[in-house]
Amino acid sequence: MRRFTPWLFLLFLIITGCETHRLPLSTAPERASDLAASPSDSAALGIAESRDPTLGPGIEARRYTPLGGPIAGLDGAEMARFLAGQEEFEQQESIEEGLGPVFNEASCSTCHSGPVGGTNGRAETRFGRMVGGVFDPMTDRGGSLIQDHALGVVNTEHGAYTFVPEKVPREATVSALRITTPLFGLGLVDAVTDAALIALAQQEGRTSPSTAGTPHMVADKGMTRVGRFGWKAQVATLHTFAGDAYLNEMGVTSPDFPQENAPQGNSGALLYNPVPTLNNDGEAVEQFFDFMTFLGPPQRRPRNPHMDAGAAVFQQIGCANCHTPSMVTGDSPVQALSRKAFQPFSDFLLHDMGSLGDGIAQGQANGRQMRTAPLWGLSVRPTYLHDGRARTPNDAILQHAGQGRDARNRYLQLAPPDREALLAFLRSL
Ligand code: HEC
Ligand code: HEC
Repeated sequence: MRRFTPWLFLLFLIITGCETHRLPLSTAPERASDLAASPSDSAALGIAESRDPTLGPGIEARRYTPLGGPIAGLDGAEMARFLAGQEEFEQQESIEEGLGPVFNEASCSTCHSGPVGGTNGRAETRFGRMVGGVFDPMTDRGGSLIQDHALGVVNTEHGAYTFVPEKVPREATVSALRITTPLFGLGLVDAVTDAALIALAQQEGRTSPSTAGTPHMVADKGMTRVGRFGWKAQVATLHTFAGDAYLNEMGVTSPDFPQENAPQGNSGALLYNPVPTLNNDGEAVEQFFDFMTFLGPPQRRPRNPHMDAGAAVFQQIGCANCHTPSMVTGDSPVQALSRKAFQPFSDFLLHDMGSLGDGIAQGQANGRQMRTAPLWGLSVRPTYLHDGRARTPNDAILQHAGQGRDARNRYLQLAPPDREALLAFLRSL
């Protein structure tokens, strides 16, 4: 049974009822010279406008999709899928539904919350060891991802067994935290073509070679794709991430991820797995996928001259070389996601961040390489950087090393008013 959510219903009316009253919107300034308001597709920005009866004739008010709401421009069927997806995303799985034997939390929204789909800053641990200069994820010891919860005592036909949370083994030489990332607007990121990301990397190689990024080529359902999700861009599609997270965060197997995680690498313990058969037929994965696909992007704060000055500084000192202000999606079966401009402030490419890297190699990404973190929605985040070490955007900037060092140094040399303007701009994203 779906719960009735009055604001979503209202929003639905606003979105579907007021097509003709849309205003042109201002988009992220790409260059200082671009600061004049430019028309853009409101659907891409997740913004719906409508007539406000309290305003005088000829005056339009903008209505913003609240954070955690669906992207504007969905049809009724898509809206229904968003709502059903959100419900599954919030659902606590039970042992009978396949939770565990080891897991991190029992629902997606335990970590992706504040509002649903965001992040509460929950961190998880990865580990491994260096052997002759090569990273070993120690899969035989449950690496690289720790599952820090377990079912405890279970009684099965093979007898009783106690599942305990995984720990970083003594032999590990690398261990790193990664915080939960927010999922707002990721349907747009999913709809960007591989070719666009490869072209962006080539363009960076020509125009800003010292900070140029690398596409993370990953295997995805039998294809080689450009990864873009996760702190290392280690996953190419939202659909794959949904199945991956279901298994690795919650211990629930599904058709694309049928193999249960062996607790601390001990596959013998799986004899006592209370639900050894495939845990989910894939329906829940489709629902997580729907929720994330239709989840709207964060809204930018209304602009003012101070923020606009900060946007120019952002461009001038080279932040925008990696934190790409604007991107365009390819064709999508979802009208609201098809050929839309959006403002993630990331190139979704890997960069050598020197000492800031987390030391974990994953796919083709080495220990120093990290994905440019998208800056949209920055102001509603509890902590920053992959391990949450930074309490403020200022702290996060000061930690940039490797390919980010020069921009950090230019930031340090800014006159105080320019630095203030830059930070005001970041808070507006
Ligand atoms: C225990 C906390 C936790 C739970 C539960 C959890 N996640 Fe996450 N999620 C994370 C963390 C941490 C990351 C960053 C992972 C990384 O890059 O290593 C993440 C990243 C993601 C991303 C990539 C977003 C981006 O910025 O590229 C997606 C998509 C995602 N999670 C979906 C889900 C779904 C769907 C579920 C439920 C099936 C789920 N997560 C459950 C903690 C969690
Ligand atoms: C060489 C590419 C590069 C440049 C240049 C760069 N960044 Fe970053 N930025 C990154 C990467 C990669 C991360 C994620 C690093 C991590 O968490 O390990 C990041 C993270 C951040 C974060 C934290 C976001 C989060 O989600 O936690 C902020 C804020 C930020 N950058 C702002 C800036 C600003 C402002 C500038 C200009 C002074 C800048 N960056 C220049 C690549 C870059």
